[in-house]
Amino acid sequence: MIDQLYRKAVLTVAERKPIEQLIRARGWGLAQRFVAGETSAEALRAVKELSQEGILSNLDLLGEFIESPAQCDEFAQNVLNLLDAAHAQGITPYVSIKLSSVGQGKTEGGEDLGLKNARRIVGKAKGYGGFVCLDMEDHPRVDQTLAQFRTLVGEFGAEHVGTVLQSYLYRTEADRDALDDLRPNLRIVKGAYLEPESVAMPDKADVDASYRRLVYAHMKAGSYVNVATHDESIIADVKHFVLAHGISKDAFEFQMLYGIRRDLQKQLAQEGYRVRAYIPYGRDWYAYFSRRIAERPGNAMFVLKGMLRG
Ligand code: FDA
Repeated sequence: MIDQLYRKAVLTVAERKPIEQLIRARGWGLAQRFVAGETSAEALRAVKELSQEGILSNLDLLGEFIESPAQCDEFAQNVLNLLDAAHAQGITPYVSIKLSSVGQGKTEGGEDLGLKNARRIVGKAKGYGGFVCLDMEDHPRVDQTLAQFRTLVGEFGAEHVGTVLQSYLYRTEADRDALDDLRPNLRIVKGAYLEPESVAMPDKADVDASYRRLVYAHMKAGSYVNVATHDESIIADVKHFVLAHGISKDAFEFQMLYGIRRDLQKQLAQEGYRVRAYIPYGRDWYAYFSRRIAERPGNAMFVLKGMLRG
C-alpha cells in the first residue's frame, strides 16, 4: 500500500508541466544512469559493452503517446533504421516497441496504424533473424495489444514477436491462459503504470504472488519466459523452481533494466543463466525516467540530491 502511494505521488508530480520542464532542462545527466544515450550509435555501443560481460540486449527507442500519424510513421521509421544499424554492425536485433508510439488506436486506410507499423518492424526484424517485443502500457491498451500480438504471431511466428504481461492486473492470469495456444514468448513484469484499484492490485505482496504464479504457469506450459524483475527473492525462487522441475536454462531468461542491479545481471550471467538488459535510448526519456524514480524512493533521493547540486 505504501509502495502504491509513493508511486502515485511521484507519477502525479511528474505529470506537472513545471516539474517536467525543470527535469528535462537539468536532469539529463541523472537520467543517463538509466538511459544509454540519445542516439542509436550510443545504444549499440552499450549493446557491445554488455555483450563483453555475457549479457544480451533488448533495445528500446523511447517515445510514448506520440500524437500525429506522421509522427508515428516517423517513429516506426526510426525503429526500422535501428534494425538496419544493428544488422550492419553484426548484431542480431532484439528490440521492444510500444504500440502507442507507432500509432495504435489511430486508423489509416481502414486499418490500425499501430498494427500496420508493427508489421513493418516485425517483418524487418524477422528478415535479420531478430525479435520484437511489444511492451505493455496502461490498462486501457491491454485488449488491443494482446489482439494485435495474436495477429502478429499468426503472420510472423512466435520466434520473432513476443509481448508482456503485468502481474499487478487482476486480469493477467486469465490473459496468460488465453494465449497458451500460441506458445508465446512472454515477458512477465510487475507493472509500472499508475492504475486504479479497480483493475490493479494495491498490495505489493499480492503483486509478487501473482508474479510467481504467472512465471511458474508459463514455464509449466512449456513456453519461453522472460523473467523481468530485479526482485532477488523472486529470482531465487525461480532458480529453485527450474531446478525442481527440470526446466532447462534455454527455456527462460532473466531480464533487467539498463543501469539497475548491474551486479546481479553480471552474477546471473556468470552462473550460466541467460540475462538480457533492456536498453532504452533516445531524446524522449522523461516518462521512462519518471517511472524508474517511482519504483524506488532511493531513486527520488538521487534525483533531488542531483538537482540541488545543480
Ligand atoms: P520491485 O519493484 O519489487 O523491486 C525489487 C527490487 O529491485 C527493489 O528492492 C530494488 O532493489 C530493485 N529495483 C527495482 N526497481 C528499481 C529502480 N527503478 N531503481 C533501482 N532499483 C530498483 N513494466 C510495464 O508496465 N510494461 C513493460 O513493458 C515493462 N517492461 C519491462 C522490461 C524489463 C526488462 C523490466 C526489468 C521491467 C519492465 N517493466 C515494465 C517494469 C516493471 O513493471 C517494474 O516496474 C520494474 O521492473 C520494477 O519492479 P521489480 O520487478 O524489479 O520489483
